Amino acid sequence: MELHHVIEAQQFDLPMIHHLFEVAAEMEKLVARGGTDEYRHRLMATLFYEPSTRTRFSFEAAMHRLGGRVISTENAAEFSSVAKGETLEDTIRIMNGYVDVIVLRHSEVGTAKRAAAVSRVPIINAGDGVGQHPSQALLDLYTIHKEIGSIDGLKIAMVGDLAQGRTVRSLAYLLSKFKDTRMYFVAPPLLKMKEDILEHLRERGSWFTEETTLDRVLPEVDVVYQTRVQKERFGDRIGDYESCRGIYIINQDSLRLMKSNAIIMHPLPRLEEIAMEVDQDRRAAYFRQAQNGLFVRMALLTVLLSH
Ligand code: CP
Repeated sequence: MELHHVIEAQQFDLPMIHHLFEVAAEMEKLVARGGTDEYRHRLMATLFYEPSTRTRFSFEAAMHRLGGRVISTENAAEFSSVAKGETLEDTIRIMNGYVDVIVLRHSEVGTAKRAAAVSRVPIINAGDGVGQHPSQALLDLYTIHKEIGSIDGLKIAMVGDLAQGRTVRSLAYLLSKFKDTRMYFVAPPLLKMKEDILEHLRERGSWFTEETTLDRVLPEVDVVYQTRVQKERFGDRIGDYESCRGIYIINQDSLRLMKSNAIIMHPLPRLEEIAMEVDQDRRAAYFRQAQNGLFVRMALLTVLLSH
């Protein structure tokens, strides 16, 4: 199956999603065997203008596990020639002469699309501001598929910063492709899911509801997808941030309300929104979810580099 760039979740159809699940499962076995050197002639650049732990390290680990090589800069905003005024487009044109694939994270919505417009080599959107994070949504789906076995018919609560959370935006697009999924968007009014996503769901006939009380939703759902209220997106609106943080905290009381076979997910990093005591519960899937990022990103790289 062919894939050129990874820009937004909508671009993935069900056959491609299932293909990536199959390849990710193979990658899991490959990692257990110590990896491969098959991609030793391939070079990947990670160009991150925003901080990251999981996305950057899992993409870099993925390329290394495939036998490929990686070049990077610790902070592209500071240490690339953008600091001297170079445009993103020129940076991408230059990187095209050096590498086979570029993983790009940026604070502005639409940056990955702009990069793809001038790039011969695949661009992977590793998060564009409050836009999208498609590889995260793919690993989220893979986690649900692995943990629960099926995605059709599931009830999924997305909780917290839905207005500024690129992971939940991408995940909503992907979930809308499956049969009879029910999405519960739980957020304070300031952080509710944006209208463009709700409109997309209406057009597709996907079921969703908007809630402000988490405890009402917990007994119903199969997946609780918790998110961090992202202080860095509020700018000088500190009062708004303070009024939104700490409203939804998953703790022992929440566990008592949840189904025994439900799972808790989080794209991470987490702050106060999941109490540490929850980590010991088998329903806490967020660390397994983060590890799945390695397998799914290996799968994405193999598909992107296969033609
Ligand atoms: N989930 C996620 O994108 O984490 P990082 O910001 O650490 O990459």
